[in-house]
Amino acid sequence: LPPSVALNNGLQMPLLGLGTYKLSGPEEVHSAVDAALAAGYRAFDSAAVYRNEAHLGRALKQLLPKYGLTRKDVFITSKLGPKDQGGKAMEGALHSLSQLDLDYIDLYLIHWPGTQGLPVSDQRNPGNRAQSWATLEELHGQGKLKAIGVSNYTPAHMRELMSSCRIPPAVLQVEFHPRLCQAGLRSVCEESRVCFQSYSSLGKGELLADPLVIEVAESCKRTPAQVLLRWAVQQGVPVLPKSSNPERIEENCRIFDFELSKADMERLSSLDCGHKYCWDPSEVA
Ligand code: A2P
Repeated sequence: LPPSVALNNGLQMPLLGLGTYKLSGPEEVHSAVDAALAAGYRAFDSAAVYRNEAHLGRALKQLLPKYGLTRKDVFITSKLGPKDQGGKAMEGALHSLSQLDLDYIDLYLIHWPGTQGLPVSDQRNPGNRAQSWATLEELHGQGKLKAIGVSNYTPAHMRELMSSCRIPPAVLQVEFHPRLCQAGLRSVCEESRVCFQSYSSLGKGELLADPLVIEVAESCKRTPAQVLLRWAVQQGVPVLPKSSNPERIEENCRIFDFELSKADMERLSSLDCGHKYCWDPSEVA
């Protein structure tokens, strides 16, 4: 099974989880979860805005028994949508729980710093973020959210949260790959004992065609996807590759039986140019 990291509240989180962004219909979610459980994945990352929480919840109910597993064997992440930031945070989080049909969610994140319709710079956002966080703290106290965290926060958002929270975030989930090494955010996380987690480790699939990634893959007889995922987990950074294809789901899981040389790690990191394939959370609402 993939190894885990300990979060700052003692909870263990697998270093590898299946990303589910863009997995849409119930059949697509079911077949991806089936392939993932068969391959050894024990973590699944969803969000209210993905509109697939109900499909994921149902797929797990149907498939866990097939693999002799129960709820406690899997780690489920979901996220509060930006339309629910602020006054609607309680409603939003409880909606995630009911869509997933779970008694508790292992990790629940504020999906991004803005509120839908308000630019990130809007004066009302700090209050909305604080209210969302207080709601997550309350649900954590009730045992409904085992760990709470944030996604797409900039260093400034992290500082704002760290200076006002009662319970510090367990996780910061952001875009991370060799072209976006996120040195600033990683040091904020290190200082504050927040687990830095990667999404889009494959650069939305586009980094798979990078000549250096291909060269490293050929030299260690692995695939470009495995090299990119290994580059992250070898630094202790948990990854969430998304695939709907059973062979690729399995391929993305085989990253714990080889090591990249120090030189290859450094060559890959030298691709860093601050490039975002997704979007810039400091600008988008
Ligand atoms: P697919 O679902 O058809 O496999 P990211 O996680 O960086 O956002 O990248 C996800 C994208 O990369 C998806 O389009 C996915 O397509 C593709 N992908 C995931 N794993 C692999 C792989 N092992 N080889 C090639 N493409 C992959």
